[in-house]
Amino acid sequence: MSKYFQQLAAPGVQKLQPYLPGKPVEELERELGISNSVKLASNENPLGASARALQAIEQCYKTINYYPDGSAFKLSQRLAGKYDIDPACLTFGNGSNDVLELIARAFLTAEHSAVYSQYAFAVYPIVVQAIGAKARVATAYDAAHETMPLGHDAEAIIDSIDETTRLVFIANPNNPTGTWMDADTVKAMLDRIPSDVILVLDLAYLEYMQNEFKPDIKSLLASYNNLIITCTFSKVYALAGLRIGYGLSHPDIADVLNRVRQPFNTNLIAQAAALAALDDDAHIQASISLNNDGKAFLQNELARLGLSYLPSMGNFLAVNFNRDAMPVYDAMLRKGVIVRPLANYNMPDYLRITIGTADQNKRLIEALSGVLA
Ligand SMILES: Cc1ncc(COP(=O)(O)O)c(C=O)c1O
Repeated sequence: MSKYFQQLAAPGVQKLQPYLPGKPVEELERELGISNSVKLASNENPLGASARALQAIEQCYKTINYYPDGSAFKLSQRLAGKYDIDPACLTFGNGSNDVLELIARAFLTAEHSAVYSQYAFAVYPIVVQAIGAKARVATAYDAAHETMPLGHDAEAIIDSIDETTRLVFIANPNNPTGTWMDADTVKAMLDRIPSDVILVLDLAYLEYMQNEFKPDIKSLLASYNNLIITCTFSKVYALAGLRIGYGLSHPDIADVLNRVRQPFNTNLIAQAAALAALDDDAHIQASISLNNDGKAFLQNELARLGLSYLPSMGNFLAVNFNRDAMPVYDAMLRKGVIVRPLANYNMPDYLRITIGTADQNKRLIEALSGVLA
């Protein structure tokens, strides 16, 4: 039966591998009859939402009988101020995944291709293939690369562009590897990409990057018309459950994206919470510090356990077990710790661990020590 409907689906959709989300805590606890499990599987902010965002939600939730402001006027003004750009540069999405999909729908057809790196974020193949467009996958640096193992190779990405290419997707830092490109490399790529090819620079984890590597968003937008930057409120802003993200681009690109966008794709509560979260500097700084401390702790502990991990500028680490990591994943589940297997990324020896609170990180290391003993 399922095959019957699969055959009726659009050709690109027939071949799609569904996105594999992290296992929800409730599901694990139901399956194993346990409680107190920890989810370090979806790169969420373990600090919880900002108190200001929660307060904003309380102030607006009674008005949800009304449609939201489809243009997200207040939020676009606020973000335009933050980046010192024209509000017409903004496109909002139901999470930045939604913006990635809008980009694919707006710019790709079955005759076009999109380039992304091997081990790049799993949503790129999904949005490209769903359209029936061709994916041109650039070979990543190999595991022995000196500074950026499994990272995006700018040369290979440029070489993969051909006359059919409309989009190039780059996650910086990339999920699931955590690897990154420095600001000069991103700029040098933009200098070499043809003007009819749009670079999509996915900055979901931007705030976690060390300042020296962060791209200068305002200057990039001013210098390159063929650029879309995507950002999210799901990570450092801790609003993953509300689903809100945005794109920044030349207003002409934003105009195209806003044509395919559903008019009310960001909801009223998400808009209010996002606006408040942007103003909560203390929460943002606390989230970044927690992540830096947790990363240092986990890196030390992993090394003590004889495990290596990829360099990461995100809120997660891809850990190499040098053997099929699935049994480790399963054993961790039985100890109530959910991490993320990466077999679907063709990285079967790795597990991706989201950096949690100090307690969660300790719990993870205890579980891992037990599993490896
Ligand atoms: C690289 C990258 N881009 C985009 C997203 C999408 O985030 P959201 O749709 O929650 O904004 C994620 C989420 O994990 C991600 O890792």
